[in-house]
Amino acid sequence: MNKLITFEGIEGSGKSTQMRLVAEHLIKLNVPLLITQEPSGTDIGRKIGGILFNREHYYMCAETEAFLFCAARAQHVREMILPALKQDRIVLCDRFSDATFAYQGFGRGLDHEFIKLINDHSSMMLKPNLTLLFDLPVEIGLKRAMDRDNLLKESSFSDRFERENLDFHNRVREGYLKLYKNEPGRFHLIDATRDVDTIQEEVRKHILAFINR
Ligand SMILES: Nc1ncnc2c1ncn2[C@@H]1O[C@H](COP(=O)(O)OP(=O)(O)O)[C@@H](O)[C@H]1O
Ligand SMILES: [Mg+2]
Repeated sequence: MNKLITFEGIEGSGKSTQMRLVAEHLIKLNVPLLITQEPSGTDIGRKIGGILFNREHYYMCAETEAFLFCAARAQHVREMILPALKQDRIVLCDRFSDATFAYQGFGRGLDHEFIKLINDHSSMMLKPNLTLLFDLPVEIGLKRAMDRDNLLKESSFSDRFERENLDFHNRVREGYLKLYKNEPGRFHLIDATRDVDTIQEEVRKHILAFINR
């Protein structure tokens, strides 16, 4: 069975932190891994990310945004994810197709069937086998993300979306929770308000059980 594990949740929910920590642990256990993220998991995806996250492109329409994320995903799935799964590696991916439903669907208001169609084509119908959903109030997530960005002084994913108002982020959060309710078997919902170590313990336990370690 494929082992594609995705990390999802709003900006600042701790996805990247938790993924890095669990990856370090799995590497110590000699688990064969691919650690990757969207949209920047390939060279082409990084260039697409450069268009998406360019501050001058603040007026980019929702459809363009959706197609660009899917364009990056199409390349990512074919170039990186499928070959790794074929080699029986466990793939840890920071954001995947659920993010397109949450951000461009629930957040931007694009039609669900349209998103499903472009997601299915870009991912070749590949579905995550396990999705960890980091959930917390948007005010807390955005505050964490802003503190992080000020520290790093770099524009990132949050740059494009941080301009959006709280309503937008609340729609994204609620959207993720709807996706979870539609597919409770695939998702594991994580209370992301807790401290890093407590969350990491839960993440490790869940992933190790999932990969039978
Ligand atoms: N459980 C936590 N409690 C407090 N701060 C956290 C927690 N998890 C992550 N952070 C910090 O919050 C910021 C955002 O975390 P990050 O992992 O980058 O989130 P995401 O990848 O979901 O946007 C980082 O500066 C990180 O160090
Ligand atoms: Mg991140």
